[in-house]
Amino acid sequence: MKIIIADYLYIDGRFVENLAIAFDSHIQAVDLPENLLETYPDAELIRAKPYTVLYPGFINTHVHLEFSANITSLKFGSFMPWLSSVIEHRDDLMQECNNDMMLRECQQMLRSGITAFGAISSFGTELEVCELAPQRVVFFNELIGSNAQYADILYGDFLERIKASQSCEPSSRITPAVAIHAPYSVHPVILQRAVSLAKENNMPLSTHFLESEAEREWLTYGSGEFKGFFEQYFNTSTPVTNITEFMHAFDTYPTHFVHCVQATGEELAHLQSRGHSVAHCPRSNRYLGVGRLHLETLNELNLPYSVATDGLSSNDSLNIFDELRAALMLHHQAPLQPFALKLLKAITEDAAKALRLESGSLKVGKHADFALISLPELPKRPEEIALWTILHTREADAVFIEGEQYV
Ligand code: BEZ
Ligand code: FE2
Repeated sequence: MKIIIADYLYIDGRFVENLAIAFDSHIQAVDLPENLLETYPDAELIRAKPYTVLYPGFINTHVHLEFSANITSLKFGSFMPWLSSVIEHRDDLMQECNNDMMLRECQQMLRSGITAFGAISSFGTELEVCELAPQRVVFFNELIGSNAQYADILYGDFLERIKASQSCEPSSRITPAVAIHAPYSVHPVILQRAVSLAKENNMPLSTHFLESEAEREWLTYGSGEFKGFFEQYFNTSTPVTNITEFMHAFDTYPTHFVHCVQATGEELAHLQSRGHSVAHCPRSNRYLGVGRLHLETLNELNLPYSVATDGLSSNDSLNIFDELRAALMLHHQAPLQPFALKLLKAITEDAAKALRLESGSLKVGKHADFALISLPELPKRPEEIALWTILHTREADAVFIEGEQYV
C-alpha cells in the first residue's frame, strides 16, 4: 500500500485541501492523512512538493500514432487540400514512422500527464508500441472503405486487426475497440456490421463525424470539393450515405463522435439523446481550417465532450497542456475560470466515460492513475487553480499508472 499526500486533490471539479489517498493498483481510501496513516501504518508515504495538485491521470481520447512522422509533409490550412496531401504522402509517412518514433510520442504524452489514450489505428502497425507503452490504451481498430466491391476484403482485414488487439497480454493494458473512419469513407453495409460487432463485444466505439463543411456538402448534396476528390482518387461521384442514415446507425450504442464541428444543433441534440459523447480537437480543427466547435451548444444540450490532440497529422505536439491552452484561445468568448474547470473535467471524468475506463476520478475503486501538477507558487485564490494549472504546466511533476510511478 502507498499513501500520497498533496496540497490539493482534484475531486468532483473542486480542489480539496487536507486529504490524502491510499492506493495499491486501485484507489483504496480517500481520507485525512492522519486517518490513512493509522489504518495503513506500513504504507509507503509519498509527499508531493508544495503547491502540488493531485489529479486523476489525464486521458487523450483520440490520437493517430501512425502519423507521428509528419512535420511538414501534410498541407495545413484547409480540409480538402490536407486530405489530398494525406493520400499523397500516406505511404512515405508510414515508412518513416517506426516504433522508436511512436514510443517517443507516448513518452511525450506521459510527461504531460496522459495515463490513458485512445489510439486510432488504420493499419495495426502501432499495436506493439501500444503494448510497450506504460499507458492504458483503448486500441481503436479503424474500418475504412466506401467502395462496395472491396468492402468484404476490407472488413476481413479489419477483423484480423481486431483479433490481434484481442490477443494482447492483460499487462499491456490494451482494450480492443472499434473506430469507423467517417461517413464519407465507410460503406453502410460494413458500417452496420462493425457497429454490431462493437455492441456484441461491449467494445468502445468511435467515429469521425462532420469535421468539415466539404463533408457536410458532399453528404447532403453530393457536390463540393469532395466530388473532385472522389473522382480523382476513387473513380466515383456519389456519396454512399447521408448524414441522417449514418448518425442513426449508432442509435443503439453510445459512441464517441470526433470533431462534429459542422453538426447542427438538431444533430447534436440527437447525439445527446442517444447517450453519445464528442471528442473536441481544438488545434486540429484550427490547423485544418474546419471552423470552431460550438461548445456553447454542447453545454446547453448537456452533451459531454472530451478534449483530444488528434494525431501529429494535424497537430504540432501530443502534449495535453498545449491542447488545453489552445482551447482557451480558440473559445475566446467562454468565461475563463469556469471554462478552465470544464476543460479539466473533459480530460478526466468525461474522457473516462467516453472510453469506458475505470479511471478519470479520485474515487475509491478507480485505477490508481495519477498526474501530479506542481504550481510555481502558492495560488493566491484557490478557486483559480484550474486556470493556473493549464497556464503554468508543460509537464507533470510525477505520473502514476496502476499505482506504479513512471515519471
Ligand atoms: C474511401 O475508402 O472511400 C476513402 C478512404 C480514405 C479517404 C476518403 C475516402
Ligand atoms: Fe482523427
